[in-house]
Amino acid sequence: MADQTFTITDNRTGQTFTLPVTDGTIRAMDLRQMKTGPEDFGAMTYDPAFLNTASCRSAITFIDGDRGILRYRGYPIEELAEKCSFLEVAWLLLHGELPTQAELDSWIAEVKHHTMIHETTKKFLTGFRYNAHPMTMFISTVAALSSVYPECKHVLDPAIRRQEIVRLIAKVPTIAAYCYRHQLGFPYVYPDNELSYPENFLNMLWRMAEPKYSANPVLARALDILFILHADHEQNCSTNVMRCVGSSQADPYVSVAAAAAALSGPLHGGANEEVLRMLDEIGSVENVRAYVDKVKSGHGKLMGFGHRVYKNYDPRARIIKWTAEQVFEVTGRNPKLEIALALEKIALEDEYFVKRKLYPNVDFYSGIIYQAMGFDPAMFTVLFAIPRTVGWLAQWQEMIQDPEQKISRPRQVYTGYDARKVVPLAERAPLTMKA
Ligand code: CMC
Repeated sequence: MADQTFTITDNRTGQTFTLPVTDGTIRAMDLRQMKTGPEDFGAMTYDPAFLNTASCRSAITFIDGDRGILRYRGYPIEELAEKCSFLEVAWLLLHGELPTQAELDSWIAEVKHHTMIHETTKKFLTGFRYNAHPMTMFISTVAALSSVYPECKHVLDPAIRRQEIVRLIAKVPTIAAYCYRHQLGFPYVYPDNELSYPENFLNMLWRMAEPKYSANPVLARALDILFILHADHEQNCSTNVMRCVGSSQADPYVSVAAAAAALSGPLHGGANEEVLRMLDEIGSVENVRAYVDKVKSGHGKLMGFGHRVYKNYDPRARIIKWTAEQVFEVTGRNPKLEIALALEKIALEDEYFVKRKLYPNVDFYSGIIYQAMGFDPAMFTVLFAIPRTVGWLAQWQEMIQDPEQKISRPRQVYTGYDARKVVPLAERAPLTMKA
């Protein structure tokens, strides 16, 4: 095998350095030895937005963006979506292997045991204004759980970590459903632990006066598949936040809340809400071409298109398209689908999108399904956050157990003033007079 090193010549000094290459990477700290003199701090890399920096070693999720491949713990996403339940996949992400029947049974029982939220948390939720955005409510309420379980601060204790992981996975659907009902002004519905994870979620969302809620099995399975597809996606923006906040040994509730805040942005999980707003703005299939031309001329983006890693069709979008057909058999076809299909067709043939390798991502079709199921677009990102909580927690646990990880703390290239003296208040020029 060829020598796994890079030889770098520093032309500023003429010195040559040999750096080991492991898994195709060099250690950024190995560059520090390249100095122009004893006062020099040493060379660094500059990588705004982490375009080419691996921040961790991870055995959870594999993505090959050029070939459109996504695997959790080695299993292709297509196979997991077809053959497994969301809670099975959650176990897989957290433990590294698929559960046996006995393990799955006790895992489901454990999660069900923790689905209720404290009545004071329920009261906390009622304090939000009637029209509060559900994602804002979700983020705040998840953070507030930290006050209910003060032991969660002991993040280095594996038993406590495990307890909080189960609590979070069990409680996020309950919080999400309460956020939804709050907006509608309906009473909150307590969890029904005789139902499966997705069925119970539908129960907490939609049960009205009937004594027992019975979920449509097609819709419950569709939701479960959507949860599987959204469960993890390696080092995306919100997962990076989870690892970063968690690296300070902050507790898992506030760390998940921070990750959910990152998810809420329109360039990340908030894109599914924006896709629906965009389809509304387009209005009809005849207007699609003009909208695409507007985007090409630099006015806005096609929401639900493009990805930092996928430079091919997002494999999740393909499964979502298939799932949409199953849902529409029950709910009737969402009229927005025709606009979305026309938009996808034009974009996939257009030189602007082809050249930039912009394909539909997971958020492009998910909102159309959620809307057909009866959700308001404001709920879409909350529906993304429920399953992604599992991915955040799996990544958080891996980070805490990794002896190489420390508090996350990037460097900067300072571009400000050199040292200067404070001018007395009376002598300072107003900001507007400074060029
Ligand atoms: N519509 C039109 N042009 C686009 C789009 C888009 N959706 N996305 C990227 N471009 C253009 C961009 O303007 C740039 O063009 P140029 O080279 O002429 O400057 C080029 O494509 C490369 O884009 P980039 O901004 O450098 O790519 P990025 O990796 O920094 O951003 C992204 C990735 C997902 C933030 C971006 O594609 C985007 O904003 N998409 C729309 C929002 C969206 O759908 N987000 C969901 C992402 S998938 C799920 C998730 O993460 O939650």
